[in-house]
Amino acid sequence: MSGFFKKLMHGFSQDSDPVTNYEGSKGVGLRIENLNKSFEDNHVLRDISLDIQAGETFSIIGPSGTGKSVLLKHIVKLITPDSGKIYIDGQDIFAEDVDKKPKGYRYSMVFQTSALFNSLSVGENVGLWLREKRVCPENRIRRIIREKLRLVGLEGKEELMISELSGGMKKRVAIARSLAMNPDLILYDEPTAELDPVTSDELARVIMDLKKELQLTTIIVSHDLNFALYLSDRVAMIDPEGIVEVGTPDQIKASENPVVRKFIYTTTKGIKGED
Ligand SMILES: Nc1ncnc2c1ncn2[C@@H]1O[C@H](COP(=O)(O)OP(=O)(O)OP(=O)(O)O)[C@@H](O)[C@H]1O
Ligand SMILES: [Mg+2]
Repeated sequence: MSGFFKKLMHGFSQDSDPVTNYEGSKGVGLRIENLNKSFEDNHVLRDISLDIQAGETFSIIGPSGTGKSVLLKHIVKLITPDSGKIYIDGQDIFAEDVDKKPKGYRYSMVFQTSALFNSLSVGENVGLWLREKRVCPENRIRRIIREKLRLVGLEGKEELMISELSGGMKKRVAIARSLAMNPDLILYDEPTAELDPVTSDELARVIMDLKKELQLTTIIVSHDLNFALYLSDRVAMIDPEGIVEVGTPDQIKASENPVVRKFIYTTTKGIKGED
């Protein structure tokens, strides 16, 4: 198999075990350059530039309405920018000829609402993409579903109906479904919205364990600062003027930037674990 084809097939090729073989997975780097987007006279994204490394867990935090979801929707090409560029794995995703070239990576997004099908079981939700694309035979699909559920701590829960699940479990099913395609890049929009603090902590551990086991690049948008500081390699803070600061959790905590300080104190009344 040629190198490029192998890369596209990673995790699903016949000469490897598609269930547990993540060798072909590779986090992909992402570069955002001077991205601008307005909706009529509402200039939502202002000159956003970010460099996210392959394999990194990167969070974008900021107050409501600052364009975090809009930014994610650009990365998954649900929205096109007014100006600026996004490169994933070195490829300009908005280039005119981009659809003519095969992509060497896969991405998948976990939506804020989870967007699960209530009339389907847990296993059917996770297997939806695999069955639709007929990537491999049914017996393998069932093994893949079992493996993805294991990764999110829901082993053996295939038969449960979505309506029987707690909020935290639904979120994990949504993650397992996103993992079904062996993404190289996974994006989460407000993963802790509607979750209590204990469930949020559990979810943080699930996302951190995924990073250990898979090599994917993770981008999270959230206004949950403690969550982002706990699990991220780096955090970017965004406000209506654009990116305010980018740094490791320790750098963000120690930031002297008044906008960052204000966000920390208004949203969390201080950082968890600090007096
Ligand atoms: N399709 C659209 N058409 C017009 N305006 C939009 C559209 N999508 C988003 N907006 C506007 O863009 C701004 C940013 O929205 P966005 O949903 O990205 O905010 P956010 O930072 O994700 O907020 P939250 O933390 O509440 O989720 C808002 O003013 C919103 O009304
Ligand atoms: Mg949002």
